[in-house]
Amino acid sequence: MKKKFTRREALAGSFLVAGTAATSEAQAAKSVTPAQTEGPFYPDMDNDLTRVQGAKKKPAGKFIYVHGTVYDKEGKPVERAVVEIWQTDNNGIYNHAGDPRQADRDVNFQFFGRCVTDKKGHYTFKTIKPAAYGVRENWQRPPHIHYKVYRRGFEDLTTQLYFAGDPLNAKDGIYNNIPKKDRPSVTVDFKPAAQIGSDLAKSIADGFGQKKGLEKDTTVGRFDIVINAVA
Ligand SMILES: [Fe+2]
Repeated sequence: MKKKFTRREALAGSFLVAGTAATSEAQAAKSVTPAQTEGPFYPDMDNDLTRVQGAKKKPAGKFIYVHGTVYDKEGKPVERAVVEIWQTDNNGIYNHAGDPRQADRDVNFQFFGRCVTDKKGHYTFKTIKPAAYGVRENWQRPPHIHYKVYRRGFEDLTTQLYFAGDPLNAKDGIYNNIPKKDRPSVTVDFKPAAQIGSDLAKSIADGFGQKKGLEKDTTVGRFDIVINAVA
């Protein structure tokens, strides 16, 4: 005689079947997804924003280098932290649909860069000096570079770098929102390449494969960043 399942047993049984199916799907051997050619349209997001793949010219503006070390709060360099930057071109235009001046955007500028810190926690970018732009009447943002820094085990940090000596800094609401004592830590003094020391100039130039060194009229700024470990 056939045993009649109680409702409870039937339910338990169907759960068991469903569970078994899910497990076997997850655990079945799989073939690796086939790799294919990258093609020419992989997003350009290296640490040289002055060189756009497929572009015929250099971007407009003054070339600058910005470098620094990512530390934890104990002062230990953080290696393999991802440092991302984004900024305007020489005319204060972003590469973003939210910026209405897209037609005038400098197509020879990369706008976005990414660098992973080395064993000493060091990162470097080659870019151009961004321009000021108007947010609304009576509010002109000073030139600045946006930063996002992240690494497993640390809180993400989103911040901005400012250029020392720019008269717009003191009038900027965002800059003024930073506690006064902390402003120097995001305000960077860019120095002529000839004044930063030959060893540093050579190591930065080498990083970009520039055998002739840094360009004479370029400036170099150091922006060190401290990130907070996740508790
Ligand atoms: Fe901005």
